[in-house]
Amino acid sequence: MKVLIFDEAEQAVARVADLVADLVRRKPDAVLGLATGGTMVPLYERLVALHQEAGPSFAGVTSFNLDEYVGLAAEHPCSYHSYMRSVLFDRIDFDLARTHLPRGDSADPMREADRYEAAIAAAGGIDLQLLGIGQNGHIGFNEPTSSLASRTRIKTLTDDTRRANQRYFDSFEDTPRFALTMGVATILESRFCLLLATGRSKADAVAAMVEGPVAAACPASALQLHRNATVVLDRDAASSLRLTSYYQHVHPGGADSAFG
Ligand code: PGA
Repeated sequence: MKVLIFDEAEQAVARVADLVADLVRRKPDAVLGLATGGTMVPLYERLVALHQEAGPSFAGVTSFNLDEYVGLAAEHPCSYHSYMRSVLFDRIDFDLARTHLPRGDSADPMREADRYEAAIAAAGGIDLQLLGIGQNGHIGFNEPTSSLASRTRIKTLTDDTRRANQRYFDSFEDTPRFALTMGVATILESRFCLLLATGRSKADAVAAMVEGPVAAACPASALQLHRNATVVLDRDAASSLRLTSYYQHVHPGGADSAFG
């Protein structure tokens, strides 16, 4: 696992945006796995700015988002469909026909999960999967104790996750209880995993992911099994790591090492 630590969140965000933009320049028909959440908002802002300054074009990109709430139609203002349109898809030259999220209002969510998994495979798999991390160590909505072999399916959200996301809804009661999410194994199949975490509230989850045992208790720790995973952190998100001086030695100030 490559661990890049930056002093400031803006620097971490800029680095992740550059990695995404570089891939899209090299491979204009790349398949991107996209994430939602507060951490991704400044990242998408930065991607929009990069696009406006000097490209790249996202017109040929195919995307698959990690998750969607069960029961919310795409048009619901709190759906991840709506989030993606407002922060990214409608602000840049994405071809909406190539963007995919699980359909939260599907009459048969279990079938929808299988359909989504098949659609990812039919697109040739994911070149770059963007990830955030929950304070409880979830990636996507793979809550603690998720099978590390899991595929896209319905997950029951923990009350902690519902409380963390309550700010987008009218009340805790209105915050959805279930989500359709890519599984841990679905995520691990992507060719490159790029996780962004900023802020002190993520520090313990980051330490468990990077330095803890590989365990379903921290689903993000499964990234230790991925051969090409990069974790980009600001100082605060890195503050519970023990081997910081090693990461700084290999990647001073978040720079690439002599070997990439
Ligand atoms: P956040 O969510 O960026 O809103 O903290 C991250 C996540 O839960 O994966």
